[in-house]
Amino acid sequence: MVATTERTQLKKMPAFGRLELDEAAIDVARHSLEPGAPQHAAPWRKDIVKLLNDSLATELVCVLRYKRHHFTADGLASPKIAEEFLVHANEEAAHADRLARRIVQLGGEPDFSPDSLTRRSHADYDEALDLKAMIRANLVAERVAIESYSQLVALIGDKDSTTRRLIEEILGDEQQHAEELEGWLAD
Ligand SMILES: [Fe+2]
Ligand SMILES: [Fe+2]
Repeated sequence: MVATTERTQLKKMPAFGRLELDEAAIDVARHSLEPGAPQHAAPWRKDIVKLLNDSLATELVCVLRYKRHHFTADGLASPKIAEEFLVHANEEAAHADRLARRIVQLGGEPDFSPDSLTRRSHADYDEALDLKAMIRANLVAERVAIESYSQLVALIGDKDSTTRRLIEEILGDEQQHAEELEGWLAD
């Protein structure tokens, strides 16, 4: 025998949603290389393309900053760290490529315009010559990237799961970059 208050509580319990695959996202993946691919994110497409272009600008500025640091740190206190700056530069370039590819898949145009790069980038360029100052500048830039990608993941949510997963993967790399830089600062 269930008491009245208990019955009311049972009625109020939310029905659990079923575990189902995101068929629309699977369809996007299936057709993503074909011309006229279905646009799962259609209502949000313009906003997402704009957000991805800002991230693309950020990645490109990060490539330039890491390259500058790699070549100017060469021969200073730690050649090993200078080499790692180049590894990061190449990984940021790979991020830029993945963002540009996704922008095109969404029917947008990737913005590589050099004139507006630093204006559109979330992270800053840096011309420090001291190795510790370089590491600090890169750590700040990585934290800026982590914050902006985290916000992007939350903003996109289920509106475009293909883009969200891409951003989550890039975010994981940025978190790893930040951890490495924190380790070098502590040395
Ligand atoms: Fe990156
Ligand atoms: Fe990074």
